[in-house]
Amino acid sequence: MTILTTGGCGYIGSHTCVELLNAGYDVIVVDNHDNSSPEALRRVRKITGKDLKEYDIDIRDKEALRKVFQENKIDAVIHFAGSKAVGESVKLPLKYYDNNIGGAVTLLEVMAEEGCKRLVFSSSATVYGDLNPSPLNEEMPLGDTTNPYGATKAMIERILKDLCISDPDWSVVLLRYFNPIGAHASGLIGEDPNGIPNNLMPYISQVAVGKLPQLSVFGNDYDTPDGTGVRDYIHVVDLARGHVKAVAYAADHQGAEIFNLGTGRGYSVLEMVAAFEKASGAKVPYAIKPRREGDLASVFSNPAKARDVLGWQAEFGIEEMCRDAWNWQSHNLNGYK
Ligand code: NAD
Ligand code: UD1
Repeated sequence: MTILTTGGCGYIGSHTCVELLNAGYDVIVVDNHDNSSPEALRRVRKITGKDLKEYDIDIRDKEALRKVFQENKIDAVIHFAGSKAVGESVKLPLKYYDNNIGGAVTLLEVMAEEGCKRLVFSSSATVYGDLNPSPLNEEMPLGDTTNPYGATKAMIERILKDLCISDPDWSVVLLRYFNPIGAHASGLIGEDPNGIPNNLMPYISQVAVGKLPQLSVFGNDYDTPDGTGVRDYIHVVDLARGHVKAVAYAADHQGAEIFNLGTGRGYSVLEMVAAFEKASGAKVPYAIKPRREGDLASVFSNPAKARDVLGWQAEFGIEEMCRDAWNWQSHNLNGYK
């Protein structure tokens, strides 16, 4: 079976390519390298000892995308490609609506024309909004999204559900990721953010390795055990394996189905700092700062549906997540550069 991954050169995509190749799938990557380095796929080949095909194109380029489908027999698509920085999306909303929604619509049009109607989509826990209490489950109503990035995820979910209603041949799996962190155990691939990281784990890693002076902890007055924000961190390799299960599920189901991919266990910012210091042996100096706008106190999943229906559950704990994040960061000071 041949799987096309859009955005397959990025953080989650590259780890998923490894797991797909290990599971025996043929893999094609479409990526415009807006937020990734072609070096990542060279390393995917090194890890797996297998080859994959890559196309340096933008998914909004309909003609180019159509050619990819015509040149290959593609059985299913995993759609990672998109822009993902929450803060940037507030400043550049049109970039996000164009790239994320425009990109998804173009991809779906080409897939429909070419008769490939199996899709796995990268959604986010952000679609639950701020009113649903954790643990979050797939039955809960969608919440209000507070930024354009989140709005694009909610809108694409809606588009995919409508598409499945309009044409029962479609099979779509919506994966709502919680907080992916860590890296492949080889230390060859990992998260390589542009500039100063927005997310906690890459920030902690860069402080530990001495690239940044200290971590700002955004608020210690939340209603959580130690007052800092609690999140459901999940090892990126576990997340990648969830996609392999989702592709198999999509192969013999119809309609749209939603799954949380999380561990079901929350950790606070200060617990993450302590776990990272233990795993790395490095110090992570921090200072308590005001809350970050739009942040919630506590967000974690109920992962039971993915366990019961997909037969998937997270295997790695916080020690492995921190160990592998450190292994990647300390061996690749400047990421892929
Ligand atoms: P990433 O930025 O590392 O990967 C996205 C990839 O898509 C990049 O390689 C980028 O170059 C490519 N891309 C972007 N626009 C493109 C376009 N128009 N045409 C072709 N390629 C394009 O991000 P990631 O962390 O691997 O996330 C993958 C997906 O998962 C994204 O859709 C993201 O919104 C979603 N997601 C990520 C997280 C997270 O914490 N990382 C959480 C929830 C959901
Ligand atoms: C953020 C996004 C979310 C996106 C997710 C994954 C916001 C409001 N939410 O989620 O939409 O899906 O990233 O890309 O941006 N923290 C610090 N100091 C830091 C960074 C983070 O204390 O320098 C804290 C945060 O307040 C939070 C926790 O660490 O409590 C995790 O933050 P982060 O990694 O940014 O993820 P989310 O906020 O869950």
